[in-house]
Amino acid sequence: MGSRTRLVLLFGGRSAEHDVSCVSARHVAAAADKDRFEVVALGITREGQWQLAELPEPLPDHLDADGLGVAPAEIFAEPDSVVFPLVHGPMGEDGTLQGLLEVADVPYVGSGVLASSLCMDKAMAKLVCTQHGLPQCRYLSASADDDPETVARAAIAELGLPLFVKPANMGSSVGVSRATTELEAVQALEAAGQYDQTIMIEEAIAGQEIEVSVLGNKDPVASVPGEIVPGAEFYDYADKYLTDGAKLLVPAEIPQSAADEARRLAIDAYRVLRCEGMARVDFLYEPTGRGMLLSEVNTIPGFTPISMYPKLWEASGLPYPQLIETLVDLAIERYERRLQHRRIDR
Ligand SMILES: Nc1ncnc2c1ncn2[C@@H]1O[C@H](COP(=O)(O)OP(=O)(O)O)[C@@H](O)[C@H]1O
Ligand SMILES: [Mg+2]
Repeated sequence: MGSRTRLVLLFGGRSAEHDVSCVSARHVAAAADKDRFEVVALGITREGQWQLAELPEPLPDHLDADGLGVAPAEIFAEPDSVVFPLVHGPMGEDGTLQGLLEVADVPYVGSGVLASSLCMDKAMAKLVCTQHGLPQCRYLSASADDDPETVARAAIAELGLPLFVKPANMGSSVGVSRATTELEAVQALEAAGQYDQTIMIEEAIAGQEIEVSVLGNKDPVASVPGEIVPGAEFYDYADKYLTDGAKLLVPAEIPQSAADEARRLAIDAYRVLRCEGMARVDFLYEPTGRGMLLSEVNTIPGFTPISMYPKLWEASGLPYPQLIETLVDLAIERYERRLQHRRIDR
């Protein structure tokens, strides 16, 4: 065995999921095999400052603005580094950070620029998946500049009620609402328009929420499906992070044929969206209707002790420390493959 790989955990960030990201990083730091990895923790504060956190001391719950700033390029330049981005939402999961890592020429865990930005933008992801014939709920998209009343009426005429309204580029259910009347639909459009220029409007699916973990580059594999049973009317921000009301079922309580279908569709979606490394693919399942409907793909899923992504791998026979190793191996494999392509380019 050569020297240890320097595993740079990139966490925190400017999104609503800052705290979740800190918990994920702490957990990855604890689970990473110290014989193989020298773990370095690089945090981004809510203000956007980059800080080197001390290890092996436990990582903080959140980052303070008064820490010492560092230049990320210097951290990435150290030999044998692999970056593990654990920053969720905009400016982390949306391809911007991945672009920085590409320019820094350092291997990193997870999807590249295109897949990250595609999956972050629900309207674009839906378009690509529709083009490839993947089953999804009926939906429309609108601009935040459109008149909300006109949009609400048109959406109800086409999709009926209730509706789900969400900003195209968010996560953690921020700005997501369920509307049961025209007035609620107008309010929901106004709320979603606060967060993004593009708004998604979907028919509400009455069914189960199913999630599948996918891992791999050219030959991705899918975990056993899990299920989220929301504690609230839907799986909203409070339910995800504050109230602990949601239940995670592993495996999902669905028939074997539906589980097989979810795994197959998860890999299809992963491929058409050009995902690499890892992603969690979420579905809405209509038991008596259309079956498994693709909902969204998350390229940086949570890595907390209660997060679905690592849990599903545990249940599929891949324990947390090995999952981290596999993700790092995939990052290096992809980096080296792209280096080959670049050599041919010249
Ligand atoms: N079309 C839909 N039908 C039923 N429930 C939905 C629909 N869209 C979203 N939801 C509910 O809202 C939650 C958040 O929506 P989602 O599209 O996953 O956005 P986010 O990226 O914020 O997680 C889902 O987990 C689900 O509970
Ligand atoms: Mg979601």
